[in-house]
Amino acid sequence: MLIALFPGDGIGPEIVAQAKRVLDALAIDGLTYEEGLVGGSAYKAVGHPLPPETLDIAKRAEAILFGAVGDPDCDSLERHLRPEQAILGLRKELGLFSNLRPAKVFPELAHESALKPEVAGSIDLLIVRETNGDVYFGEKGMRTTADGLREGYDIMSYNEAEVRRIAHAGFQAARARRGKLCSVDKANVLETSQLWRDVVIEVSAEYPDVALTHMYVDNAAMQLVRNPGQFDVIVTGNMFGDILSDQASMCVGSIGMLASATLNGSGQGLYEPIHGSAPDIAGQGKANPLATILSAAMMLRYSLNLPEPADRIEAAVAKALADGARSPDLGGTMNTVEMGDAVLAAL
Ligand code: NAD
Ligand code: IPM
Ligand code: MN
Repeated sequence: MLIALFPGDGIGPEIVAQAKRVLDALAIDGLTYEEGLVGGSAYKAVGHPLPPETLDIAKRAEAILFGAVGDPDCDSLERHLRPEQAILGLRKELGLFSNLRPAKVFPELAHESALKPEVAGSIDLLIVRETNGDVYFGEKGMRTTADGLREGYDIMSYNEAEVRRIAHAGFQAARARRGKLCSVDKANVLETSQLWRDVVIEVSAEYPDVALTHMYVDNAAMQLVRNPGQFDVIVTGNMFGDILSDQASMCVGSIGMLASATLNGSGQGLYEPIHGSAPDIAGQGKANPLATILSAAMMLRYSLNLPEPADRIEAAVAKALADGARSPDLGGTMNTVEMGDAVLAAL
């Protein structure tokens, strides 16, 4: 079983190295790895953020373990050459449309949450974010208006097939959890969202056992801090899901804790922390590797059908935290490698 390892930029290599140590410690038979260049480091080495060699590894792999991309040096390149195009390109080229971002509080971290500990303690939710469409992939550009003003534009759209497949992913996830699905949109203003809501309601006929509700995204942002315990599964579009998942991370304690899986229709998946390359702390050993380690667990569970070692990783992370492992984002002083050591010790 081939795993593509794409460390990327900034803290990416530091955190992926810790996830790889954990995978190695499990000594799972039959896992092989191929490493590829992505992001700004790929651009600097070979002139493109997603080189053909990297895409080829991704297409052949069962799963991709991804660090992060993004490099301030590259922020004024033409858009198609920017590091972020690596992750967008992989999602598009491999049809990775279903981005699962679980947010659950580890009891020891409830007081690290930006919320009151008793509110944080109630959080156990999953954001199912669509990642192949929306305003991310519509026509975009810069132009000049008739009166000579510069104007940027990005077209937002979803077709019904795109909404239907992510709606199914949302309902199926809800069915496997507490049976509640909240679809988040902006149907009071956007036609894209009206279609979204109409199609989600159509699909709901196939899931009579799931309780469906709808919420506007502005209210959802508010409810996520007011009463996050009300949410089981949230299904939403690409941009709303991007924003709400970063918000959810601080509700559970730190952005360094949130893992993700992005699946296509054939079981292939890309696994990455939800955070970025954190250029402000890169190279300083301050990055929390737990989101990436937990992403490796999701990889074992969802793409490699290895639930037992996945459980072992998750239990080891929980034990490391219970034993007091804390990186700076969690109020502690342990560096990235020491956090990896703590998980290995717990394993
Ligand atoms: P970011 O997520 O990289 O960082 C936001 C803040 O969170 C920073 O203060 C950072 O130090 C902190 N942080 C993030 N991960 C952490 C970790 N594991 N441990 C401790 N602290 C952590 O977001 P940003 O600063 O807006 O973006 C930086 C770059 O990353 C940009 O180029 C952006 O485009 C890119 N990005 C990439 C991805 C991805 O690869 N999937 C995701 C988000 C952002
Ligand atoms: C994420 C990131 C990406 C996104 C960027 C880097 C393209 O923020 O994975 O959450 O917006 O999807
Ligand atoms: Mn994001």
